[in-house]
Amino acid sequence: MSWKDWKLSGHVVLVLLFFTSIGTWAKPPHIVFMVADDLGWNDIGFNNPDIISPNINQLAQSGLILNHSYVQPMCSPSRSAFMTGWYPFRLGTQHNVIFSQQNVCLPLDKTLLPQVLKQNGYKTHAIGKWHLGFCKWECTPTYRGFDTFQGYYTSREDYYTKKNHVGFDFHKNKDVVWEANGTYSSYLYSAALEKVIGEHDPNDPLFLYFPIQSVHEPLEVPEHYYNLYPNVKTKGRRIFSGMVTALDDAVGHLVNSLKMKGMYNDTLIFFTADNGGWIPYHGNNFPLRGGKISLWEGGTRVPAFVHGKGVPQGSGRFDGLMHAVDWFPTIVEAAGLKYEDPNRDGVSLWKSITHLSASPRTEMVYNLDNRSLPENGHAAIRVGDMKLVIGFPGLFNDWYKPEQVWTEPLPKPDYSDLDDLIKQEIGKKPDWKIFRGLFDLAADPYEHQNLYWQKPDVVAKLKGRLQYHYSRMIPANYPPADPASDPKKWNGTWSPGWC
Ligand SMILES: *[C@@H]1O[C@H](CO)[C@@H](O)[C@H](O)[C@H]1NC(C)=O
Ligand SMILES: *[C@@H]1O[C@H](CO)[C@@H](O)[C@H](O)[C@H]1NC(C)=O
Ligand SMILES: *[C@@H]1O[C@H](CO)[C@@H](O)[C@H](O)[C@H]1NC(C)=O
Ligand SMILES: *[C@@H]1O[C@H](CO)[C@@H](O)[C@H](O)[C@H]1NC(C)=O
Ligand SMILES: *[C@@H]1O[C@H](CO)[C@@H](O)[C@H](O)[C@H]1NC(C)=O
Repeated sequence: MSWKDWKLSGHVVLVLLFFTSIGTWAKPPHIVFMVADDLGWNDIGFNNPDIISPNINQLAQSGLILNHSYVQPMCSPSRSAFMTGWYPFRLGTQHNVIFSQQNVCLPLDKTLLPQVLKQNGYKTHAIGKWHLGFCKWECTPTYRGFDTFQGYYTSREDYYTKKNHVGFDFHKNKDVVWEANGTYSSYLYSAALEKVIGEHDPNDPLFLYFPIQSVHEPLEVPEHYYNLYPNVKTKGRRIFSGMVTALDDAVGHLVNSLKMKGMYNDTLIFFTADNGGWIPYHGNNFPLRGGKISLWEGGTRVPAFVHGKGVPQGSGRFDGLMHAVDWFPTIVEAAGLKYEDPNRDGVSLWKSITHLSASPRTEMVYNLDNRSLPENGHAAIRVGDMKLVIGFPGLFNDWYKPEQVWTEPLPKPDYSDLDDLIKQEIGKKPDWKIFRGLFDLAADPYEHQNLYWQKPDVVAKLKGRLQYHYSRMIPANYPPADPASDPKKWNGTWSPGWC
């Protein structure tokens, strides 16, 4: 071969390489975004060896565990952030969960994550809990970017009957699925995702949003899961532990379905909880302080991981800061897409995750809510390693052990009496109302040492940042119950159509 021939073929090789790399790069990954409900820091095998969750452990340990991944202290606020990339205090969803009877939905002028993916060729499916409003069809998943939806609209329901109080709540797209009555929900969801994946054309990119019901109350689990935990003495914690294993089995089904379809190697799996473990119902966050419905780390720092193509294998724990608002831009960038929204709060961590480099996030707001305490609001922010808490931190303020039993009054399952409970709690311990806290989370991740009175300069700096965020806050939108929502008017179901 002459030099000239060599040069020519060299070019051919280069051109071929160029097209191959474009080809690989241009084929977007399949994406699963899984959200576990009320799963606490200490409720998963990779943080607590007493919990049996081999499928999740395997994914987390062969992917990247996000060691500082934060969410809101409650469900609808976190889901608002996942779907929009905006802080709830800028959407009006910061105060509480959305009640079944409330004429509220995630603001309709916002573009949701599935819409961006769908516009770029993804087939988009949701299986599980919505809880972002359903008073009219425009609020529901298939009007907000999902090709299909199977699951429930409200906050919680019975794992077998699919009833939330007086209303049945299980839907497939616009239909009520009465046949869902009687099947334990993690089985139902496993069957649903097997079908969605089985029927998917692998040439199209898939986006599967999988906000599973587990492990929210009510405490219900098939007996064989309960029997896996003979050493857990507290009945509630034993049922709860079984529920985590049922959740884990659903993840096993997910992985198997992807493998059977030959899609697994091209799939990215993103996993997070929506808030910390709920102490009265045996969720646990030890050694973190507090739990769901509190601004402490136990309410907001949750199990999370990323697994799949591009994610460094088995690199242990990623120490960078991540917040619920970051999932949207991270997933969009992982999909190889661009979506610019200058008003968004989230930043993409995709490059940090794939290169194990520092997180672009250095500050985050836990919550801002002037209605949680009418006198002065509650607020918490982290800047670098320092966390400032102003006002009532929440209903659960201690360090709870896994088998601790809660004997105080409980919020109603729909949380509609939350404000009253907070007032009662403050009545008993008035100091909480005027609470001021400053914690160095690098030195003291479990929030034992309040430095507020020792470090006025740091306090002043963080208060300055809070003031900036207050200037961007909009009031929380939580109207009273609307009688038009009553399931009696909708053939016994929670159904859209009343606003
Ligand atoms: C669910 O099934 C049970 C047992 O068959 C039945 O008693 C109940 O009425 C059903 N619930 C609904 C909402 O159809
Ligand atoms: C997926 O990746 C594994 C490990 O690299 C490999 O053994 C397997 O053959 C791949 N499967 C497919 C369907 O490409
Ligand atoms: C994860 O966070 C804990 C603090 O809660 C810390 O002790 C541990 O070193 C962190 N792990 C890594 C690898 O960053
Ligand atoms: C909320 O409370 C903060 C702190 O007291 C205050 O600065 C801010 O003006 C209040 N915002 C609204 C909208 O009420
Ligand atoms: C009304 O609800 C019952 C179950 O309670 C169901 O069998 C029936 O099909 C429903 N009717 C309509 C029109 O959906």
